[in-house]
Amino acid sequence: MKKLTLLNGLTATEFLRDYWQKKPLLIRQAIPEFKPLVTRDQLFEMIKDEDVESRLITCQKQWKMDTGPFAQVPSLRQKNWTLLVQSMNLHDASVDALMRQFNFIPDTRLDDLMISYATESGGVGAHFDSYDVFLLQAHGRRRWRISAQTDLTLVEDMPLKILQNFQPEEEFILEPGDMLYLPPHYAHEGVAMDECMTYSIGFRAPSYQELGEAFLESMIDTIDLPGRYADPDLKPSKQHAEISSTMLSKVSSELNKMRFTQDDIALFLGEYLSEPATHIYFTAPALALSASRFIQKAQKTGVKLSLKTQMLHRNKYVFINGTSFEVDNADLQLLRKLAENRSLTGDDIQTASDDVIDALHTWQKDGWILLN
Ligand code: SIN
Ligand code: CO
Repeated sequence: MKKLTLLNGLTATEFLRDYWQKKPLLIRQAIPEFKPLVTRDQLFEMIKDEDVESRLITCQKQWKMDTGPFAQVPSLRQKNWTLLVQSMNLHDASVDALMRQFNFIPDTRLDDLMISYATESGGVGAHFDSYDVFLLQAHGRRRWRISAQTDLTLVEDMPLKILQNFQPEEEFILEPGDMLYLPPHYAHEGVAMDECMTYSIGFRAPSYQELGEAFLESMIDTIDLPGRYADPDLKPSKQHAEISSTMLSKVSSELNKMRFTQDDIALFLGEYLSEPATHIYFTAPALALSASRFIQKAQKTGVKLSLKTQMLHRNKYVFINGTSFEVDNADLQLLRKLAENRSLTGDDIQTASDDVIDALHTWQKDGWILLN
């Protein structure tokens, strides 16, 4: 296994074993000579867009949070404000490429890359997050104070999560290229020392409640319970308002016939985890290509997934943007390659079956994949 500069010279195995979901790790110069991928002005331009999720946090006397889009940001001369721009990886290929450097964690766990911009002394207060995060300093300096405290009581009635009783144990000043990993529920507070930008590589971990509800909903159309309640053996009852034990046990034994297989769950999980968030819209190409034009072009240039596309696979199943396919062995290799590399070369496409070409063409028309 390769030692990674990104992980303080640890291999992915060592990092996962000793730190992931366990304890913080400070990594000086995780990305040496790191330069911001998006300028301040580009960021301020992006937040005008309805498709871009953003929040503005200020603390003059009191914490205040507004949600975007924003036509304008506060004055740059005003201290102490923070702009958070979520999922920048969906909008910028270089940000997506940076996020994919963290692919020693599976795609099913990777959430997004958020960029925060702050003027001097800006921050979002002392808080904890429910998810793991890598905080990469991109521009300027930020002071992080962190704590393993178990008291995670929040101040009531606040527009954002603020710890009532933050007791910092360690303090670090991060410069561009430095990075801090924090496991879930680790108390932290970042304050901008000067104008600064921080990139948060965030993860997703659905709650079992959320998974259970979504799973049952997804199974609703597959439930198949033939027959109807019958009682040729009915006896007269004294308490006619009571639900009888006979009725209860007959219905229980019928309902208990519903069984969920590993495949049911794999299908659900793949569709659920690859489902685009509600605010994501795909842009169809301006000019729809005929099937033959598409093949010709794809065989020449290859294809790549849109930044917004999530593609997963498991055994014979392939998932893309909330849909699933059962694929035969011949096509599996190519589609898995597309999911893993997020692209296929022209040579790859030359080997594709008609079914795969058809699927690729449909996805291209929907804006899910792009010609290179
Ligand atoms: C920030 O980058 O300003 C906040 C990130 C965090 O504390 O999770
Ligand atoms: Co945080």
